[in-house]
Amino acid sequence: MKKIIPIQPSPATLLPMASLPVGEGPLADPRGRELRDLRISVTDRCNFRCVYCMPRSVFDKDYPFLPRSELLSFEEITRIARRFAARGVRKIRITGGEPLLRKYVENLVALLAAIPDVEITLTTNGVLLPKMAKVLKEAGLHRVTVSLDAIEDSVFRQMNDADYPVSAVLAGIDAAQAAGLGPIKINSVVKRGVNDHGVVDMARFFRGSGHIVRFIEFMDVGSSNGWKMDEVVPSREIVERIGAVFPLEPVDPNYTGEVAERWRYVDGAGEIGVISSVTEAFCSTCTRIRLSTEGKLYTCLFAQNGHDLRALLRQGASDADLDAAIAGIWRVRDDRYSEIRTANTAAQRKIEMSYIGG
Ligand code: GTP
Ligand code: 5AD
Ligand code: SF4
Ligand code: SF4
Repeated sequence: MKKIIPIQPSPATLLPMASLPVGEGPLADPRGRELRDLRISVTDRCNFRCVYCMPRSVFDKDYPFLPRSELLSFEEITRIARRFAARGVRKIRITGGEPLLRKYVENLVALLAAIPDVEITLTTNGVLLPKMAKVLKEAGLHRVTVSLDAIEDSVFRQMNDADYPVSAVLAGIDAAQAAGLGPIKINSVVKRGVNDHGVVDMARFFRGSGHIVRFIEFMDVGSSNGWKMDEVVPSREIVERIGAVFPLEPVDPNYTGEVAERWRYVDGAGEIGVISSVTEAFCSTCTRIRLSTEGKLYTCLFAQNGHDLRALLRQGASDADLDAAIAGIWRVRDDRYSEIRTANTAAQRKIEMSYIGG
């Protein structure tokens, strides 16, 4: 098979210091979308090689992962996060790669948890949770989301391509629940012909458990996963397939701009979610910004360029400088990639999800 050349993030835009007025209150972009969620990637590495995210053919031993010296320190991340909180961010999600691979990530959790009025969540593949759930909870983490793409062991191993069994993730989910990190959301990316035949089994397994499985449409994020529209299973189809066995009814969103559409079992056995980023884009309510491991800020999952906050920090920026930079970036943000996706945009060079965070 032809080897795909790994795509490195393109050079970041260097921000002028204090070039724009800061203003008061929550920040809105020109489409009226407020800045509410900050996703922080703490490593671009992972112990899994999920076929839709870090295909082994690309993310091999020669892949140019970021060297340690490039990473933001926990103090730098916290300083940035505090500036975001001051401008209206109310939820911080720690992501990766696999965030639990970042050494002493619990110390970062503790620093972030000290920021008032912000919910701290983390997305993980779960296998390190038996070891870490308790310490993460003690550090102040509020919730975790765990990825699990199939309940059938052979299918799950095929999806993660690193031979991790389902039992390792289930042990992680149990540990998180026992530590008080629930209710747990379980992210399940569906790829046609690989794991889609198992969606009803997934739903059956977690019905009545209190955990919420969210089925996610396979996205054309990054440039290495060989995305094809035929491999996307529309959420409509997932809801129909599950609903035919366990009748479902729609539920109102928990909050404006919630990514997952909620459905509950008519018999009271809990709820599921579907995330339709391909067939029903939700850009019009997108309140998310992403900070990469090396301190670049991206206003869209599909952005091609980031803004270099690390350079600004290391040049001695004051809080006012950082605030002005953040305001300047958000106030001109015009992203809506998923709404304008075409075969051409899907083929564009984009940063990888393992770099920018899920
Ligand atoms: P909570 O409601 O706080 O539990 O989080 P969430 O719904 O934002 O969920 P999560 O962060 O787990 O995101 C779930 C998945 O939705 C991600 O892994 C992505 O596949 C997809 N997703 C999340 N945010 C975006 C986004 O801004 N754009 C697109 N296109 N997809 C997204
Ligand atoms: N499509 C949809 N979701 C993806 N994720 C990673 N790659 C993709 C993709 N191509 C999400 C999954 C996973 C999280 C870490 O990132 O939801 O749970
Ligand atoms: Fe790792 Fe998550 Fe990407 Fe899978 S989806 S390779 S677990 S970062
Ligand atoms: Fe937000 Fe970009 Fe995702 Fe649209 S594609 S929801 S603008 S991150």
